[in-house]
Amino acid sequence: MNFCVFTFFNYIFLCPLTVISDVAEPWQLNFQDPATPIMEGIINLHHDLMFFICVISTFVSWMLVRILWHFEETQNIIPSTLTHGTLIEVIWTITPAFILLLIAVPSFSLLYAMDEIISPAITIKTLGHQWYWSYEYSDYLNEDNEAIIYDSYMIPEEDLELGQFRLLEVDNRMIIPVNTHIRIIVSAADVLHSWAVPSLGIKCDAIPGRLNQTSMFIKREGLYYGQCSEICGINHGFMPIVVEAVPLSNYIEWISNKLNE
Ligand code: CUA
Repeated sequence: MNFCVFTFFNYIFLCPLTVISDVAEPWQLNFQDPATPIMEGIINLHHDLMFFICVISTFVSWMLVRILWHFEETQNIIPSTLTHGTLIEVIWTITPAFILLLIAVPSFSLLYAMDEIISPAITIKTLGHQWYWSYEYSDYLNEDNEAIIYDSYMIPEEDLELGQFRLLEVDNRMIIPVNTHIRIIVSAADVLHSWAVPSLGIKCDAIPGRLNQTSMFIKREGLYYGQCSEICGINHGFMPIVVEAVPLSNYIEWISNKLNE
């Protein structure tokens, strides 16, 4: 859900037809709703930076217009021969540097927060393939000492049911519990892929022969849609990601069913 004007329209006129999910919407201009503290942080940083961007672009455009007006040929017949001024140069170097420093503080704290893996309760391995994802829950083993491993393919357009999202739905979702620290280990089996889910604030490169890790702490139940975000070949656009966040008890039930399969 996204609380912009278009969504408001959506809610009023299309509500019975719309399934509320964390997914991109037509004409969307803003972020998808955050579901993790990290994504909330990213959105807040974006808003903080927006303030600086507005002030700077207003100031620069005002100055440009003023210069064009006042130093135009007919208004300023005898041009100045001044080539430099030390004071103004010091000012226009120090000020942007200071603004950058000011921006760097929240930016770095967010960056390090994203990097932090807080003693995870669950570790899930995500493998990118040409062109699907596979998930591995190696924290649990069945009687034959096998971990839970399964593939997640996109549902083709002709098999979609009413209310499902085109190019976003998968046959086997990644199931995880809410309010739990989860570590995701990302890699690839063939070429570069990228495991990305906007609402969770995650975009992690899947690189063959290398393990990348990221973490998430989902605050609410729901379906979170994402897509491969690294050009990986002809079906790059057809390997979506669906994360289903469920209560812990449901997760345990799902895991035990999977182990008994
Ligand atoms: Cu996998 Cu793009």
